[in-house]
Amino acid sequence: MKGFIKKLPKAELHLHIEGSFEPELMFTIADRNKIKIKYQSVDELKAAYNFNNLQEFLDVYYAGASVLLKEEDFFDLTMSYFRKINGQNVIHTEIMFDPQTHTERGIDFSVVISGITAAQDQAQKDFGISSKLIMSFLRHLDAQAADDTLQQSLEFKNLITAVGLDSSELGNPPSKFKEVFAAAKKVGYLAVAHAGEEGPADYVWEAINLLKVNRIDHGNNALADAKLVETLVKNKMALTVCPLSNVKLRNVDRIENHPIKLMLEKGLVATVNSDDPAYFGGYLNENYQAVAEALNLSKEDLYQLSLNSFHAAFLEAEEKAELVGKLDKFYAENRD
Ligand code: ADE
Ligand code: ZN
Repeated sequence: MKGFIKKLPKAELHLHIEGSFEPELMFTIADRNKIKIKYQSVDELKAAYNFNNLQEFLDVYYAGASVLLKEEDFFDLTMSYFRKINGQNVIHTEIMFDPQTHTERGIDFSVVISGITAAQDQAQKDFGISSKLIMSFLRHLDAQAADDTLQQSLEFKNLITAVGLDSSELGNPPSKFKEVFAAAKKVGYLAVAHAGEEGPADYVWEAINLLKVNRIDHGNNALADAKLVETLVKNKMALTVCPLSNVKLRNVDRIENHPIKLMLEKGLVATVNSDDPAYFGGYLNENYQAVAEALNLSKEDLYQLSLNSFHAAFLEAEEKAELVGKLDKFYAENRD
């Protein structure tokens, strides 16, 4: 199955660019920016990647991101992610970034977005990988800060496809951001939100009903509410599921108990994603491989997961059809 997964054309829809910051690159950028990080070596840093919950991870993730200062830092970070996925047959990706993680430290919004989008352009040219950008609001900060970020983004609106909502979920329900999401939708952004990762099914309801999201990031805890599952299925609301992340952050006790197969059986539009691959032990193919092995997924299941990723992507119908065409050709030649 490994060879099949490797060659399977696929899309990634839930990836935090700051979460693709590999330790080696972190040290390189820290050195050139003359910033001291609290770990002495790559090994010492990697040893800290042992998390009991989302917050413990986020503390390390924000500390890592703090060495990013210049446009070239954001370019190198993003290019490094594209190089990884180019070797994995990811042909389309939708990248989340957290502007507030940087603007709060005095880095200009324009520095962040210029570096990321320059890498997107280069990846399209060099690797033929198409991509979109999702601007995520940090939910542990207040709604006013999210609105300030929305205003800052307007100058770059043509570079951004959607807004998102991430960071500490518990205690920060989607309802807190109802007005800012309405404003974002009004100016033409699509919307996603992390919901039901650590938070309850109610947060998924709020993301749908109050934020009017186009996709749910994670959504695992929706399974606790039969009516919600029915609604998600009926509306073909995609879930961007992150298997290795769920195990690393202890939302699922072991990969053998991951609910993604159950999600498919229930008719949910589940997709596979890496979330924060530098921290959670793998990029997209490692996530596919982990669930394929642990849950004994068939080639048909893997095809369905990849097909879901194209259907749920923020692309025009013709663009989707072209990518699905590549997937279908591969599947026709490799299904037996
Ligand atoms: N930011 C980066 N990764 C995240 C996750 N898995 N959940 C919430 N916020 C995040
Ligand atoms: Zn995430």
